[in-house]
Amino acid sequence: MAIFRNLDIFLIVLSLGSIFIICFYRKISRELQSEPTNWPVVGMFPAALQNLHRAHEYATQVLRECGGTYELKGPWFLNLDIMFTCDPANIHHIFTKNFPNYPKGPQFRKIFEILGDGIFNVDDKLWEIHRRITLSFLTNSKFYTLLERNTWRKMDVGLIPVLDYFCEHGKDFDLQDIFQRFTFDSICKLVLDYDPGSLCIDLPYIPCEKAFSNSVAPLLHRHILPERIWRLQQWLNFGNEKKLAEAKKAFDDFILPRVSFKDEEQEDDFNVMKIFKKFYEEKNIESSGDLSEFLKDTALSLMFAGRDTTSTCLTWLFWLIAKNPSTENKILQEIETELRVKQDSTGRVFNVEESRKLVYLHGALCESLRLFPPIALEHKSPVNDDILPSGHHLRKNSKVIISFYSVGRLETVWGKDCLDFKPERWISGKGMTRHEASYNFPAFNVGPRTCIGKEMAFIQMKIVAATMIYRYRVELVEGHPVAPLDSVVLHAKHGLRVRLSKRN
Ligand code: HEM
Repeated sequence: MAIFRNLDIFLIVLSLGSIFIICFYRKISRELQSEPTNWPVVGMFPAALQNLHRAHEYATQVLRECGGTYELKGPWFLNLDIMFTCDPANIHHIFTKNFPNYPKGPQFRKIFEILGDGIFNVDDKLWEIHRRITLSFLTNSKFYTLLERNTWRKMDVGLIPVLDYFCEHGKDFDLQDIFQRFTFDSICKLVLDYDPGSLCIDLPYIPCEKAFSNSVAPLLHRHILPERIWRLQQWLNFGNEKKLAEAKKAFDDFILPRVSFKDEEQEDDFNVMKIFKKFYEEKNIESSGDLSEFLKDTALSLMFAGRDTTSTCLTWLFWLIAKNPSTENKILQEIETELRVKQDSTGRVFNVEESRKLVYLHGALCESLRLFPPIALEHKSPVNDDILPSGHHLRKNSKVIISFYSVGRLETVWGKDCLDFKPERWISGKGMTRHEASYNFPAFNVGPRTCIGKEMAFIQMKIVAATMIYRYRVELVEGHPVAPLDSVVLHAKHGLRVRLSKRN
């Protein structure tokens, strides 16, 4: 009998042990497959927090395994479930076909409250006004003359002297920081008619310039944390919320004095802030603040658009080229053959028309935007219940996050070599730039809210990239870690440390 009793105990222990091992194995293998475990009470929140330091990569892995759409379950009672998607059919549906059902809405506005009544944050009439006025400015022929003149000037007095200095002293430096200063000075000149001179050899600390970088990671955290938690942090002025409060102060201090025009200055030339001021006064625009606040919000959105996107694309372009040296030779060849134009101290100076001949460089920029879209995700909330083309149901006011980062890495769209940097994929058989539907390549957004600075961005980026590649060899500093930042804007987390040498 004792033997049988011992055998019973042995079998029970064996069964429990097996169950434990199977559960443990299943949990580990689920984690290896990256699909998050849905725990009682806390939902998938632990997996989200655990992977917050590699948010874009993790979302891409999960989405790839789940066919492009996945619902992340938040803790019970917190109303934090989020639908993630990178399915091009869903993107086309949300951004274009059913656009009226997906305004920016109150949730977006709360997260991006720092942008106030600027174009990124508003819907309906106010958005239409912003878009119309900004477009009229960006498509005016005077604008391109101004853009060309300002960009080449900034190259001559800012970028080239600074790069020559690092080159002559054999010093390594953060190329991302240099690009951010370049685009900050350039966009300030265009929007505020004022060049703060952040790009010079001393690399001065300008709080507003750094405030852009300091605010993008906290903004991603607001997407994932429950509102009550980040509101509490805001009230306590602590952590990420403290960074946002400091950024807001830096923006106010920098922009407000520069949009308070005196009356006698009004009647003059081509200036986007003055166009907005005139419109505001004539049409009595409905905004939540007074005129100065409205102009500050308008300027801040345009500065965000112009500073962070182009500098991020250029940073990843130079990293990708350094990792794929054969592409550098092709860009050089293209500059040699296509830009037989006048030379000055900067190198080969070319105009907007001539920049269109740089088809291979254009492809390289598109590859940088595909693999590292500067705006890595979009956040939407439907006004009414909806069913996505993938069959997923969305309740009204629920959250849907569209990962632009993941779309560019989809094998189903870009093929087996989707992770490779191949500028050639953007060139058609006739040697022209190949068009790609925006829902497959959403770096510049999709539908009625498509970016209106795309043309300007390509012109600026080609001037910078062609000039730099023509003048310098860019070498990565060995051992320096390079990875995307977990933020709404896809900066390189630790910058991009490089060393330059001059070409003959
Ligand atoms: C590589 C460079 C750029 C990229 C990847 C890019 C990308 C984007 C994206 C994804 C959006 C949609 C944002 C949203 O709705 O939340 C957007 C909107 C916008 N972009 Fe760009 N952008 C770039 C450069 C620029 C430049 C240089 C400007 C000029 C100032 C600009 C002006 C705008 C404006 C005004 C909007 C708002 C459009 C609207 O809501 O109707 N962008 N851009």
